[in-house]
Amino acid sequence: MPLVSMRQLLDEAAQGAYGVGAFNVNNMEQIQAIMEAARETKSPAIVQASRGARSYSQDRFLYHLMLAATELYPEIPTVLHLDHGNSVETCKSAIAMGFTSVMMDGSLMPDGKTPSTFEYNVKATREVVETAHSKGITVEGEIGCLGGIEDGHGAGLDALSHLTDPDQAVEFVRQTGVDALAIAIGTSHGAYKFTKKPTGETLKMDRLLEIHRRLPNTHLVMHGSSSVPKELQDIINQYGGKLKPTWGVPIEEIQLGIKNGVRKINVDTDNRLAMTGAIRKVFWEKPEEFDPRSYLKPARDAMKKVVAQRMTQFGQAGHAGDYAPISLEEMAKRYQQHLTA
Ligand code: 13P
Repeated sequence: MPLVSMRQLLDEAAQGAYGVGAFNVNNMEQIQAIMEAARETKSPAIVQASRGARSYSQDRFLYHLMLAATELYPEIPTVLHLDHGNSVETCKSAIAMGFTSVMMDGSLMPDGKTPSTFEYNVKATREVVETAHSKGITVEGEIGCLGGIEDGHGAGLDALSHLTDPDQAVEFVRQTGVDALAIAIGTSHGAYKFTKKPTGETLKMDRLLEIHRRLPNTHLVMHGSSSVPKELQDIINQYGGKLKPTWGVPIEEIQLGIKNGVRKINVDTDNRLAMTGAIRKVFWEKPEEFDPRSYLKPARDAMKKVVAQRMTQFGQAGHAGDYAPISLEEMAKRYQQHLTA
């Protein structure tokens, strides 16, 4: 089947009360790992590429790898999503290339660092929604800025003020018509999220519950949702790595989120850790090896294992065959008729 819209996957996930992992990719092995995990667990798949990934892969390579994925795994409903689009132009260029979903992250200015105003965020996101929906493409927006609470400066602001404000979230969804909403509840990208197992003070699940209560029909997105398992940290350190002790987002908190409106869960770091650990192991144990396949294959297998585990934990396993794809043309018609907008 062709690449499908993310809106369809998330609507189905809401109906089935499960979450869908969105896994970041930069190359062929990572795409293969996700598609193999999806086949093994019979899961729908969201494959996402950031701006960095697009530039690393000269994004046309990535796009054609994704077309290969749809040919080789025709039974898997698969989305190609832009992660953290920093401007209207970036989102438009992804849409022009064939992405079936885009994130307009207007919580920050186009430099990707400076927190923006609510008005800027609404304006930029609304513009992307208009272009995307006319083509049946899905839009994820973000309100509040991702960032930890422990260090007291998520995105350069004070400890709590960068978190999503529920009133603003309601207003933002009303004014933009986004399909999915990323919220800030104390998670951050990368391996160093928490210095100890997070508590209600550092991971604000109560905020998520409140947002879901106010926006029961909006698909919520959890960014920075790697669990950073100790086993994966240990493999890296056992084979010469130097990771400092760290904690990620516990799976049970993500599952609580899924019970409360979270439909998309972003995971990148766990897969990076798994691949790097596998590569280090080969280099450590077989220093005579120099065929890239000798370490890329174990790296791909290690990522597949993590992705399959997450697909099962998030509940998407077994749902790949639940529905036939809705064409982007049909999605565009539905948006025009305001059936799903
Ligand atoms: P992690 O760094 O926790 O994997 O988060 C990835 C992410 O949110 C991508 O947008």
